Amino acid sequence: MADLSINFAGIKAPNPFWLASAPPTNTGYQIMKAFDAGWGGAVWKTLGVPVVNVSSRYGSVNYRDSRMMGFNNIELISDRPLADNLREIEEVKKYFPNHAVIASLMVESRAEWIQIIKDCENAGADGLELNFGCPHGMCERGMGSAVGQEPEVLKTIVQWVMEAANIPVITKLSPNISHITDPGRAAVAGGTSAISLVNTFKSIVGINLDTYAPYPEVDGSGTNGGYCGPAVKPIALNMVKELAQDHITKNTPISGIGGIENWRDVVEYILLGCGSVQVCTAVMHYGFGIVRELESGVLQFMRDKGYNNIEEFRGKALPNVKEWKDLNLKHKVVADINAEKCIGCQLCYTACEDGAHQAIALSGDPAIRIPSIIEENCVGCNLCSLVCPVEECITMVKRDDGTERLTWAERTERGDVPVTFNDPLAGGIGHHVPTPEDAIKTFKNTRK
Ligand SMILES: Cc1cc2nc3c(=O)[nH]c(=O)nc-3n(C[C@H](O)[C@H](O)[C@H](O)COP(=O)(O)O)c2cc1C
Ligand code: SF4
Ligand code: SF4
Repeated sequence: MADLSINFAGIKAPNPFWLASAPPTNTGYQIMKAFDAGWGGAVWKTLGVPVVNVSSRYGSVNYRDSRMMGFNNIELISDRPLADNLREIEEVKKYFPNHAVIASLMVESRAEWIQIIKDCENAGADGLELNFGCPHGMCERGMGSAVGQEPEVLKTIVQWVMEAANIPVITKLSPNISHITDPGRAAVAGGTSAISLVNTFKSIVGINLDTYAPYPEVDGSGTNGGYCGPAVKPIALNMVKELAQDHITKNTPISGIGGIENWRDVVEYILLGCGSVQVCTAVMHYGFGIVRELESGVLQFMRDKGYNNIEEFRGKALPNVKEWKDLNLKHKVVADINAEKCIGCQLCYTACEDGAHQAIALSGDPAIRIPSIIEENCVGCNLCSLVCPVEECITMVKRDDGTERLTWAERTERGDVPVTFNDPLAGGIGHHVPTPEDAIKTFKNTRK
């Protein structure tokens, strides 16, 4: 059987599936249950000077039939005394010596950092994670994302930690920043052993239209929260890619976090360079049992592709993530409708007609509802295939023969790109464009 075990920046674990620092890792009780269910590691709910939380803490974005597509919280770090947490870390390590227990930390002064690091090491933690992410509450007190948004301060604290720590240190980054490479490079300059990302995105998930308060409401008011869950995965994946390709951060191990819910999500993070992944929202939604699907799915993927261990496919997608200027302008696809699968909903027609390139025609006969592609108008944007509700009904068919390759960068080098407002080299020249007056004919037809 393929081997799922990892050595992440010196932290060994039976598999790359870790719980992110959050409510599922609040207590030793939960972490023991999670390890028993199959999780390979857990980042303890952030430790520091215990906080006082508000009641009413979470909000969500429900999208159509999906609940918690996006999840929002305004809770702070652990509200439990440090001594209780440390005792439980020790206990968990006794039962699960080969699982990764990582202590997430957030304190203010250098003396506090040194003290809490020693305490966690003495309790038997396998690693530390520095929480420079929380975008609510703690940042008002100069911690969390207040540090994550100031690369110089972040670097200084990482340096303090690296001087004091004898176990691997993961720096957890805030995504609330223009360029993730700025704090990423600062963490590397500070000597961090690894990076994890993302923490939550500063957000307001909605406003109550009766009370005019943001969700989650706390006695008629609210505050910005931290957003996570499936909605943030694409943004998190891109940030992971930025660090995995940056010449300064690319050799630092990355633990990927954000919207992970199934085995495909895990594989995607690994293909973009992550050596472990962390999950919060999906566990809060469905419980620890989801790890069984993660494990069986990743194992099946590895079997299908012939991989023996995680390292064999880690980062395999990175060479294919290029800059736009290096994409092949000679590649040409067009939409193709499978008439046998088509249910005649005509969503593709409306999308292309109003939102794309008027490249789909209706028959004109109400009895024939299957649209057809006007191939010469189709620019291959994919929109119709994305809106079509029937799987594999609209496919994009390759029309170039693959022999030609020409990129924007190459065209620029040859002086073969549009540079004036009405340049004859404009990409749209020659594409079918109806006249504005054609719209009037359409009004007449649709109002008959
Ligand atoms: C309710 C809640 C509390 C969280 N508390 C912490 C925390 O104490 N420390 C931390 O580093 N991240 C915290 N996070 C962020 C998660 O660890 C994780 O980075 C984020 O939720 C993205 O992962 P997800 O999309 O799987 O939820 C919290 C998230 C949630 C939803
Ligand atoms: S969206 Fe798909 S199913 Fe609907 S008409 Fe177009 S091709 Fe047919
Ligand atoms: S791929 Fe784009 S342009 Fe072509 S038919 Fe579909 S929506 Fe229209």
